[in-house]
Amino acid sequence: MLVYSSWKDYLPKSFLWLSQIKIEQAKGLSDTSWNLIAVRTENEQLVLSSGGLDAALKTRLLNEIDTQSWTAGEKSLRLNVDGKKFLLVAQSSVKTGAVQLGRQLGLDAAGALSKAKLKDLHISDCDQLLALDIFEGFVLGFEDGTAFKSKNTTEFPQRVSVQTQDKDALNKRSQLAQSLLLVKWLQDAPANFITPEQFAHISQDLFKSTAAELLILGRKEMQALGMGSFLSVAQGADSDPKLIAIKIKGQDTSKTVALVGKGVTFDAGGINIKASAGLEEMKYDMSGAAAVLGAAHYFTAVKPPVNVVCALGAVENLLGPDATKPGDVVKAYNGKTIEILNTDAEGRLVLADVLSYVVEKFDPDLVIDIATLTGAVIFGLGHAGAGMMTKDQKTADFLKHVATRVGEPMWHLPFWPELESEVSSQLADYKNIAKASVKAGPIMGGLFLREFVKDHRCEWAHLDVAGTAWSCAATGYHTNGGSGFGLRALIGAAELYHS
Ligand code: BES
Ligand code: ZN
Ligand code: ZN
Repeated sequence: MLVYSSWKDYLPKSFLWLSQIKIEQAKGLSDTSWNLIAVRTENEQLVLSSGGLDAALKTRLLNEIDTQSWTAGEKSLRLNVDGKKFLLVAQSSVKTGAVQLGRQLGLDAAGALSKAKLKDLHISDCDQLLALDIFEGFVLGFEDGTAFKSKNTTEFPQRVSVQTQDKDALNKRSQLAQSLLLVKWLQDAPANFITPEQFAHISQDLFKSTAAELLILGRKEMQALGMGSFLSVAQGADSDPKLIAIKIKGQDTSKTVALVGKGVTFDAGGINIKASAGLEEMKYDMSGAAAVLGAAHYFTAVKPPVNVVCALGAVENLLGPDATKPGDVVKAYNGKTIEILNTDAEGRLVLADVLSYVVEKFDPDLVIDIATLTGAVIFGLGHAGAGMMTKDQKTADFLKHVATRVGEPMWHLPFWPELESEVSSQLADYKNIAKASVKAGPIMGGLFLREFVKDHRCEWAHLDVAGTAWSCAATGYHTNGGSGFGLRALIGAAELYHS
């Protein structure tokens, strides 16, 4: 058993540090703090970039680099020139967008700062890498993975300044970075800590003194509402499943965006039990819910332009005498019956009920669900981007635009009409997996979910983040562990949704 008096005992120190430190807005170069300079190689020449660097200063810095025979291959270099302090950090050469490169530069700057035990940093735009993106990466660089260790010796900077005209944007980015730390922590936390009940506790604690309205349903309440699909997943475990919904009023209360997350706190597969290798990674099967909770955390601090409803289905998919058996038929909240042909395709069973409940109760204009739904999406898209599915081209274009802007790539997968009938069962209305020859795992997951929103007027999109939620180091700029993927896109979508 993991012993603690409050879940807050295990919050990462970085989370508390960021809530206490004042992030300053500053212009030009700093006279007192270390000035971050990005260094890249172009035509075998080093190019320095940072706001406030004039040609003369650049030449002096380049001369110093020469004298010290520093190559940008070594990650960082500290220089004192003109009475100012400069921290030179090599830019990543991974082929990706400027947003991700900016974030990576910030992460590397945090590493350099920690290594040299420096206490301050001044960040400005470095050519096309924006100060706010660098800042976000910098903060994430202090997330050191020690939350569940008994000792933490990480030292945090005492002074951080960012060159930006827009104070509001800086505050928002700092808030986003904190929500990201929360999401990544929730993801990495073990499954004997982040249980469905714990998800509910954390939500209660986070939102009790805010204006958000919180609604939590347990097994009993869900039984009374007829959520047989969601509950079929919970049958194999003793823990109480939780449907958690957080409603946050926006500036314009005539529109509502709903964000819905899969929160399987551990996915053993159920009676269709998973193989042993890598099974511990299935604690990450709540990553969609973590991102949604993170969005709620953000929007209780930064009022959204429209109403936002954050809903998550938290449950353990285990095995026991009462567990659902392959072939069982259940009745979902919307009255439709489902033949469960594979208990490991449980995410769609949870989301089916959460989605139909959310559209009925909150009447949203746009619904985005986010889930680690299929292993197959990893084969299709790898770890560099998520699968996005929607029947509306307009919604797909909107989300692609948001995704590029926030640096969370996604790719629109088609709902091939030929596959639509594959969600129908002979025995019940639906079945939760298609026949083996169909393949197209991510699309079949999306087509199944669509059945539970299609009778509502809302726009809807499904994000399959099984490949991007954790261990994305293969892409060259992410670190291992929970990535927080989806949080930025969900927030971006709610902030940019006007129509
Ligand atoms: N949680 C898994 C999907 C998953 C697998 C996420 C690997 C991340 C990494 C999901 O519940 C699942 O088991 N899906 C099955 C679906 C199949 C039975 C149709 C899968 O992907 O094999
Ligand atoms: Zn599963
Ligand atoms: Zn799962």
